[in-house]
Amino acid sequence: MWAIGVVALCVMAGSALAALVRLVPLSLRAARVALRQIFGAMRWVSRHRRFGAGSVVVAVVVWMATKHGVGALAVGAAISAALLATWRLRAPETFSAWVTERIAGSWRSARVYRPAWETAMVTTGLDAGINGERRLPALVGVRSRAGVDRVRVRMLAGQVLEDWTGRAPRLAQTFGVPECRVRTVPGRSRDLELWLLVADMLLAEVSPFRSRTSDAAALAVAVQEDGRRYRLRLLGSHVLVVGATGSGKGSVLWAIVAGLAPAIRDRTARVWALDPKGGMELAAGRPLFDRFVYGDPDDGGDYEIEFARALEDAVSIMRRRQARLRGITRLHSPTEEEPLIVVLIDELANLTAYITDREAKRRIGAALSLLLSQGRAVGVSVVGAVQDPRKEVVTVRDLFPTRIALRLSEADQVALVLGAGARDRGARCDRIAESMPGTGYVGIEGVAEPLRVRFPHFTDQHIDALVAEYGTSADMTAAETRSAA
Ligand SMILES: Nc1ncnc2c1ncn2[C@@H]1O[C@H](COP(=O)(O)OP(=O)(O)OP(=O)(O)O)[C@@H](O)[C@H]1O
Ligand SMILES: [Mg+2]
Repeated sequence: MWAIGVVALCVMAGSALAALVRLVPLSLRAARVALRQIFGAMRWVSRHRRFGAGSVVVAVVVWMATKHGVGALAVGAAISAALLATWRLRAPETFSAWVTERIAGSWRSARVYRPAWETAMVTTGLDAGINGERRLPALVGVRSRAGVDRVRVRMLAGQVLEDWTGRAPRLAQTFGVPECRVRTVPGRSRDLELWLLVADMLLAEVSPFRSRTSDAAALAVAVQEDGRRYRLRLLGSHVLVVGATGSGKGSVLWAIVAGLAPAIRDRTARVWALDPKGGMELAAGRPLFDRFVYGDPDDGGDYEIEFARALEDAVSIMRRRQARLRGITRLHSPTEEEPLIVVLIDELANLTAYITDREAKRRIGAALSLLLSQGRAVGVSVVGAVQDPRKEVVTVRDLFPTRIALRLSEADQVALVLGAGARDRGARCDRIAESMPGTGYVGIEGVAEPLRVRFPHFTDQHIDALVAEYGTSADMTAAETRSAA
């Protein structure tokens, strides 16, 4: 009996142990499966943040409706709508970047890019097979604005920008858009942004912008392909505008003057206009300029020396400012007493190459070189327009940090203006249609690829309106300008 009891006890203990042994791995496995599911769900939510955010909103709405009733819900909706409307009104750019572009981008992503992503990557050869597993570059997100879908992609390890630029036409064809540009993303070496142009926003002429204030560090002067304003950094820089005849260089000069107009009225910026084509381009804006020098080659006399004198006066101002600011600051900030001086020159070549007076040519060359090499730190900037970018014509070409290239007559000229490789990175200035004056490519700080933009068209009426609103009555003589500066 005792023995039977011991055996029974042993059998029970054994079966309990066996059950425990079976149970532990089971529970471990279950825990592992559960953890994997939780991590999977978390990863899914992190990849579909919008869905996660949407779920939170729905949960809050349901909770409010059940807890406080539909009335509270209506009040909450009205407050949210008012906040959004205020945001849109007060800061349209950030509202667009955070709300409209993302909503439109999600829609385009779901309809166009995600469904065709795998096909596009495989047919263009941008995928990779590793250990029999197919890897695709990740589609990080899409933002849509105006006529452009900006598709952010994460390249596979080992891929470079050129792998994508070479496939841009095929990507455009796959996604059914006329053009695809590949752009780097500052600070993100593994990411690229594909700009898929659904429609060309620059086909239509651009109207001049109106701005109440003027920021010389970010002058809104043109429209980008994504409908945003292109902001030119004039403060602390010099700008060279190059374009064949009729390419719209005049509109670039006027866009800069218009951008500066509020500062001209406030006297924190002064424009010295040098128009060696006999005043053809800039004469209409005379009341906006502190100094206006023009010349007519048929006139004879010493008109060419006048250009040299103006430039030398700018050098004198530069020297005086250098002496005062030495050791105090490295970048001058414009004030009414010490304004930004912008020396605006239409057709630089008339001063550097085609000039006949040798003495004037020497003095102009010397003064221009000094201004371009030392003026920007003390608030003296030069903006020059020229048709021919060759060094023999514009000896000082390389001293302009900012370049704008409009339509050019030859493909080789692109490198002279925007640097070697700029054409391969998309700046096809020689392909700009003659029917689209004011269109060109500009450099953007921190981004390797030039950006296509269009400058507004300034008619005589626009210039008259600008003069009427911002022109200062003082049409100063050279002597007055010198003493004021
Ligand atoms: N941004 C623009 N949008 C639409 N049309 C423009 C624009 N800019 C200029 N145009 C038109 O193109 C024509 C040529 O422009 P503009 O005189 O500015 O060219 P340019 O490059 O200065 O030529 P040139 O070297 O011969 O002086 C102008 O008559 C004007 O009507
Ligand atoms: Mg012109």
